[in-house]
Amino acid sequence: KQLVTVMGTRPNIVKAGPFLRALRRRTDIVNTLVHTGQHYDADLSGNLQRELGLDPVDHNLGVGSGSHATQVGTVLQRMEKPLLSAGPMAMVVFGDVNSTIAAAMAGAQLGIPVVHAEAGLRSGDNSIEELNRRQITRLARLHLAPCRWSGLNLVAERIPSASVRTVGSLMACSALLYGRSGGEERLAELDLVPGRYVVVTAHKESAVLDPDGVAALTTVLRKMSARVDVVFPLHPRTKRTLDRHVDSQDMERVRFVNPLSFRDMACLVRHAHAVLTDSDGLQDETTVHNIPCFTFAPATARRASVEVGTNTLVALTEPDLVDRILAAQPHGTPPRIPLWDEHVGERMVASLDEVIFHG
Ligand code: UD1
Repeated sequence: KQLVTVMGTRPNIVKAGPFLRALRRRTDIVNTLVHTGQHYDADLSGNLQRELGLDPVDHNLGVGSGSHATQVGTVLQRMEKPLLSAGPMAMVVFGDVNSTIAAAMAGAQLGIPVVHAEAGLRSGDNSIEELNRRQITRLARLHLAPCRWSGLNLVAERIPSASVRTVGSLMACSALLYGRSGGEERLAELDLVPGRYVVVTAHKESAVLDPDGVAALTTVLRKMSARVDVVFPLHPRTKRTLDRHVDSQDMERVRFVNPLSFRDMACLVRHAHAVLTDSDGLQDETTVHNIPCFTFAPATARRASVEVGTNTLVALTEPDLVDRILAAQPHGTPPRIPLWDEHVGERMVASLDEVIFHG
């Protein structure tokens, strides 16, 4: 039983973890692992693969950075060879990044059934990720939904329910498998007291390329720095922007750090007072750790985290944003979302057995 699994970015790697781990117990399935190379810095890619114990990559397509068109076009072109040589019964793709849509197109064009992990999330906005998600749905043969709402979205879009399986959130699963303990020494190193600091991340174009977005982000950081300790792990692109716009004397209580290992980041999140982010994955991870998350975005595809109350959509320009963040309280009892547990990878494999391998 030949399979091809494709990943390309840091969140793709995190999502691949539980699936590849479950697959390893299956000697009857031969998996070819393809990395598109969309993320290539060691901190965003190689180090994370090692940390999560992923199998060695069989093909790295070396796509690198570029516009949507360049990334999609290059992956599309370079995916063909590994797909033809593996001749798989299906290919598995994760999430909504440029690598995902491109790999799905390459597979669908060769008649290979595409299995979409994290299917059916919808933000309803004009983001490139939303465009990718909708197109991937059109190309996929098996849709693995992270929660009830995403399954319902697919059915509402007339995807036959026989091709939809709700398996749980891979991000939540990784948070439970790889992020529940360890890394506390980081807090001491950064001089942070549990429960008394805020984690901030930002990487979307609207926050780190658009001048108004950058101005809003730096204003919030300055206001926070006057009142609370902050730790801000930097995506390489965010670092380049902030190096130009931030006078760190202005923000003495903000610790700017390089991208962290999954374990260390999970540790910082677990012990945080709150998280302020534009990341998609962190919205699920904060739900698992029961930490208030403030997502600065006009819309989110992560409805489950909003429904259970851990995640709140905000705008960086809200005048009382810092007050709201400081007043945040976690739930008394950790919220429970069905299937958000350690077994999402196993459910994915079981769905492949049912729909692709037929037992
Ligand atoms: C991509 C995804 C986004 C996801 C994010 C997770 C798309 C459209 N976007 O955004 O949905 O939330 O990954 O991190 O696919 N760069 C480096 N080193 C790297 C990779 C990128 O320095 O290893 C820099 C480059 O300047 C590059 C920029 O970051 O141009 C953006 O990288 P890109 O892969 O295009 O998108 P992300 O912002 O990482």
